[in-house]
Amino acid sequence: MSMLTITGGKPLEGTIIVSGAKNAVLPIIAASLLCGEPIQLEDAPDLLDVNVMSKVISALGATVERDGSTLKIHTREIDCIEAPYDLVTQMRASIVTMGPLLARRGHVRISHPGGCAIGSRPINWHLKGLEALGAEIKMDHGFLDVSSKGLKGARIYMDYPSVGATENIMMAAAMAKGTTLIENAAQEPEIVDLATFINEMGGKVRGAGTSIIHIEGVREFHGTTHTVIPDRIEAGSYLLMVAATGGDVLVQNVIADHLKPLIAKMEEAGIRMMEEDDGIRISGKGVYNAVDIKTQVHPGFPTDLQAPFMAFLTRSNGTGLITETVFENRFMHVDELKRMGADIKIEGRSAIVQGIQRLNAAPVTATDLRAGAALILAALTAEGTTCIRGIHHIDRGYEQVEKKLSQLGANIIRDE
Ligand code: UD1
Repeated sequence: MSMLTITGGKPLEGTIIVSGAKNAVLPIIAASLLCGEPIQLEDAPDLLDVNVMSKVISALGATVERDGSTLKIHTREIDCIEAPYDLVTQMRASIVTMGPLLARRGHVRISHPGGCAIGSRPINWHLKGLEALGAEIKMDHGFLDVSSKGLKGARIYMDYPSVGATENIMMAAAMAKGTTLIENAAQEPEIVDLATFINEMGGKVRGAGTSIIHIEGVREFHGTTHTVIPDRIEAGSYLLMVAATGGDVLVQNVIADHLKPLIAKMEEAGIRMMEEDDGIRISGKGVYNAVDIKTQVHPGFPTDLQAPFMAFLTRSNGTGLITETVFENRFMHVDELKRMGADIKIEGRSAIVQGIQRLNAAPVTATDLRAGAALILAALTAEGTTCIRGIHHIDRGYEQVEKKLSQLGANIIRDE
């Protein structure tokens, strides 16, 4: 069974380059289905999830080729409107192919994604938005059958600023007749990157990054080359690892503005960071104070950094309160951190973390992607050698994690 073996105690030092953002490239690959001409994506991270999304669009008729960090996509025709069940169940994010497929072909069949480790994760707001644009939705033997005789722009108020629903609606509306307004839209940087990509293909999207997105439908898109934004969650995870080990690292290919909520909290904890021309320099002493965080939609504290932040707090001075408001079941990492000696109590949607001096190595298992990052952080600071299993979760979102950390001096080995 593959696992990561990490011996803790070494401060991370050197330079690290952050990869392109997983959560930006996934909907962008889906959006490429809108266009019949060649698309080139630069800085497309080579991750399990990106490979699954590439397979999904290949099954629909696209050709996808990887050359280093470049993905070349061409979808001359959509030959098939059914997203394969085994791929959709492997990766929930494949649901964002629904909007562009519906826009280009007027019909899509996709298996209902169901739940996952961090909650039931319904898609009601995706469906409500597509219905408002004129789609007819039926459930058929576990598949969603979504069709339309021609999408029409509409004014859509989102009950909650869901990232995936905003993306699906934006992609469908990009080709709908007339104007669509998405109110209470998600404002994450990945939404802005998707809008930029749609516009580079000839679309007309304004206001992405604010709570109101204005989309004027166009009939045809043209080929383009797009560079994916840096992964703010990967960057944030490494910043926390460096701080926790008391290291000194220059983190390159980051947009500091995307990391504001994390940087504010790390500074509150007493960590020093400096913006330099080519990145963020972080130097930690491995000693810091406990702070409280509450996950929220952007620009609040990102839920995807909640688990790594909890691992960071396990060795702080004092007691920190972590409140998770975005997902219902995102404390799966707590039991694993406790196996390493962490002092954490869960009360409803909050976790109370009492800082201790040192974690101890233990065999642990990553239950989801960000839980995996939390365990890596814990292992890097722990006394002894930790074996982390379930690393396929980590490979979904952290490109060449052991190589990047080894270059910073970490004692980390992958055993296949
Ligand atoms: C995206 C990110 C994920 C991140 C999350 C929140 C990708 C591939 N994934 O996930 O890493 O943690 O944003 O920043 O970009 N909900 C509903 N009904 C819906 C849609 C969502 O109830 O129709 C709920 C979800 O169950 C969850 C909350 O809304 O509790 C937020 O979900 P959403 O913003 O949609 O996250 P995702 O797009 O799934």
